[in-house]
Amino acid sequence: MLVTGGAGFIGSNFILYWLKKYPQDKIINLDKLTYAGNLENLKSVEKNPGYFFIHDDICNSHAVDLIIKNYQIETIVHFAAETHVDRSIMDPSPFIKTNVEGTYVLLEAALKNKVKRFHHISTDEVFGALPLGSKTKFDETTAYDPRSPYSASKAGSDHLVRAYHTTFNLPITISNCSNNFGPYQFPEKLFSLAITNLMEGKKVPVYGDGLYVRDWLYVEDHCRAIDLILEKGVIGETYLIGGLTEDIPNIEVIRRIIKIMGHNEEMIAYVKDRPGHDRRYAMDWRKIKEHLGWQPEYSFDQALEKTIAWYKNNQNWWKDIKTGAYQEYYKKQYQH
Ligand code: NAD
Ligand code: TYD
Repeated sequence: MLVTGGAGFIGSNFILYWLKKYPQDKIINLDKLTYAGNLENLKSVEKNPGYFFIHDDICNSHAVDLIIKNYQIETIVHFAAETHVDRSIMDPSPFIKTNVEGTYVLLEAALKNKVKRFHHISTDEVFGALPLGSKTKFDETTAYDPRSPYSASKAGSDHLVRAYHTTFNLPITISNCSNNFGPYQFPEKLFSLAITNLMEGKKVPVYGDGLYVRDWLYVEDHCRAIDLILEKGVIGETYLIGGLTEDIPNIEVIRRIIKIMGHNEEMIAYVKDRPGHDRRYAMDWRKIKEHLGWQPEYSFDQALEKTIAWYKNNQNWWKDIKTGAYQEYYKKQYQH
């Protein structure tokens, strides 16, 4: 199996999950190690004979072709991407390059080398925004309406993946998941930023009025869903993966984190809103439940407790990250 972007948040959780569950399998992790890639996440499998790391760019067509050919790759699980909306607003160009062009390079190489399965990891953000207070949810038939450079680049990649199936018969599956949280998340995203800021005695920045809703998914539940899609998913199909939260606004998520961590509301700082900020995401994941028997294992509060405990017990991991270039990003994003 070739995993792209395996040094990132979800990719590394997936590799750890997979090698634990299927110790006989062989995984090649192809990652460019951008600011978001961190081999520390994979320390525990570094010496595992079933795991091999290759430092390269998915846009490098020669390298990608050779890797797939030489390692006789059967399955590709494609996580590699630029992933942060705020960074895509600062500079969209790496998003177009990696997310659109990089996906194209992988598709071409997969086709040429007759890969048996190309599984593409995508996001609910391709569907745009839902109104606050409505009961509407995204499902597999929702029309695409991306509104940020990030979501537009992911939408472009989804369209390419589907086109390679329809036009060239490439055996693909796609999953669009909601916002993940859990261990090894780069501390620029809401949960990891809030938890680590509080441990550093810093306030938690809340964009705008804080009444934005995300459908929170624990990363381990997500990994199990991908596993099921690889095992039982129907070629050409798309599956939506979401969590168990029912419209919890950001401000409420932050209050829960603050409470569990023994702080008070003085630690909340309202900051300038994100331009084009999507109001609400909500996922109808009945298809994957009914067809493949998946559902989240952890309640939101259980997963939140586990996540907070992980960041408390792994302070070196995020303290190493929150230095250097991270500080420049933080200043640019939050101190206008
Ligand atoms: P991440 O930003 O934590 O990690 C991305 C990884 O991709 C990094 O290791 C990075 O080095 C690597 N990468 C970036 N550009 C590359 C390139 N050109 N070549 C090779 N490697 C490259 O991302 P994540 O949060 O783990 O997200 C993984 C996937 O899941 C992405 O496709 C993302 O769009 C999707 N997704 C994430 C979320 C979420 O909440 N995190 C939600 C929905 C969908
Ligand atoms: P984020 O984790 O960046 O994921 P996405 O933008 O892909 O949904 O943000 C989740 C929500 O939290 C989103 O509504 C923006 C908001 N947010 C804040 O209020 N403060 C922050 O510091 C960050 C990073 C996000």
